[in-house]
Amino acid sequence: MLAPAKVNLYLHVLGKRDDGYHLLDSLVVFAGIGDEISASECAELALTIDGHFADGLAADQTNLVLKAASALREQAGVRTGAQIRLTKNLPLASGIGGGSSDAATTLQALTGLWRCDLLPGQLQKIALALGADVPVCLNAKPSFVGGIGDEIAAAGPLPSVWLLLANPGVATPTASVFKKRSGPYSSHARWNRPPATFDGLLRHLEGTRNDLTPAALEITPAIADVLADLAALPHCALARLSGSGATCFGLFEDEQGTVEAEQLLRRQRPGWWVRAARIMM
Ligand code: C5P
Repeated sequence: MLAPAKVNLYLHVLGKRDDGYHLLDSLVVFAGIGDEISASECAELALTIDGHFADGLAADQTNLVLKAASALREQAGVRTGAQIRLTKNLPLASGIGGGSSDAATTLQALTGLWRCDLLPGQLQKIALALGADVPVCLNAKPSFVGGIGDEIAAAGPLPSVWLLLANPGVATPTASVFKKRSGPYSSHARWNRPPATFDGLLRHLEGTRNDLTPAALEITPAIADVLADLAALPHCALARLSGSGATCFGLFEDEQGTVEAEQLLRRQRPGWWVRAARIMM
């Protein structure tokens, strides 16, 4: 199963809770690329990891995939295990929800494999306990995310949109970025009715931001280069940071323009991770 990359088209920070978590308003979409999760029957719980970004990721209980599997097994009263395979295609700690999407996809895969009989909302609860971003990854459709990530509302359907994702190869820890964020809080920016055209979507996004950008730039200055290089590509309508970074995205109207921009940016920045993808509906 695909564990798709999660992209925040905008991310407003509305406030902060007493426990340090931030209240958000974000438009989250999923790209048609990501990690891969598969699971087969096995007496024990076991994880193997392969793929381009497998190095530096431990296949032990610190891995969110195994944490998700253990939590589901316990809460659903399952007695068997599973052999899980994670193919890590997305860069680590990069603001596109790789670990969260892996965890959510693991929950989906194992719910099927183990034929779990869960109460309504139980899977969402297990997901939230694994990370603030995990619940929205369970459904992987355009969504408005509120609260600390746990309040989810459908945002689509969106017009056809293409993304060019670019990451300079510098891990950027989410907790550090949130901790560094300062300045005034933003307000909600949701629409009542989804825009019908690419231009309509663009106009809406132009009135929004990613409020984590200044803090992420302090921690990972290379983000400035990523944003500038994306914005300079032909046909790129908007360039912005996703999540806490360092991955940024360019917004494009059509596939051809995105693929040409992907080839150009790869030539200009051979050391970066650069991927074109369509938004999943
Ligand atoms: O929940 P998760 O482990 O994905 O979040 C990583 C860190 O990001 C949290 O420990 C917290 O410091 C910060 N965070 C936050 N507000 C959110 C989500 C995450 O401050 N809504």
